[in-house]
Amino acid sequence: MVEEKDNNRQPGNISRRQFLKDAGIVVGGTAVSSAFFLSACGKEVEVTKTITTTAPGTTSTVTKTAADNTVTITKYTCPVCSQEFDSLAALKAHFDADHSETEAKKDTINLTINGNEYTDIHVKPHWTLRELLHDKLEFVDIKEMCSGRGACGSCSVLMDGRPILSCLTLASTCDGAVIETAYGIANSKHPLIEAYIKNHCMQCGYCTPGFLVTAKALLENNPNPTEADIRNALGGNLCRCGTYPAHIDAILEAANVKGGA
Ligand code: FES
Ligand code: FES
Repeated sequence: MVEEKDNNRQPGNISRRQFLKDAGIVVGGTAVSSAFFLSACGKEVEVTKTITTTAPGTTSTVTKTAADNTVTITKYTCPVCSQEFDSLAALKAHFDADHSETEAKKDTINLTINGNEYTDIHVKPHWTLRELLHDKLEFVDIKEMCSGRGACGSCSVLMDGRPILSCLTLASTCDGAVIETAYGIANSKHPLIEAYIKNHCMQCGYCTPGFLVTAKALLENNPNPTEADIRNALGGNLCRCGTYPAHIDAILEAANVKGGA
């Protein structure tokens, strides 16, 4: 399972582990600061104090004895549905019974990427496929030239055989998809790779993975493309280094190798 750094947890999108951790932090954090405040009085007395916690409409009763530093928490509030429980065990049982399926598992997806299966990938609702593939799974062949505006084609991948812009695709909608990136095309020893090398299709190379993905999709659908077909297919891919003519030569050559024109 892929874990992510959970710095921006959204309400309603909470893993089981994070939920149990947060439940402890919210209630415990309040109690500890209260205990510190009470102990500052310096008197050996038993004090009972009612504190409003961060969960709306919920209070926790905390009993503090300065001498033994004991804090007793008498209420545990579910951060998903705000139901209250008398013990942490009861809260855990409630979460397992009522929220573990709906809240914790709905944000995982399965993908096949370049022939390998990735299961139970934890995704945030707002993550794009590009963020997931590049930032989390480290497929660094997926580029981003236009800051995710859908304008450059450098983030292109094949999804179920179709070229898509991964910067405009939400990862959470891709459950069960078969993804192929430029790495997969290179590993399959596709004729495009040799043709791209031979025709010097890259200068800085940043745009090349996106071109390769688009070119492969073109040849799958049209094994015998004309120059106009190629120009049309590559219309959404930008190259800052101006390598456009080389791509046309390379794709025509790869088509020949594959038995096309
Ligand atoms: S990053 Fe430019 S189209 Fe996706
Ligand atoms: S080779 Fe540099 S951006 Fe295309």
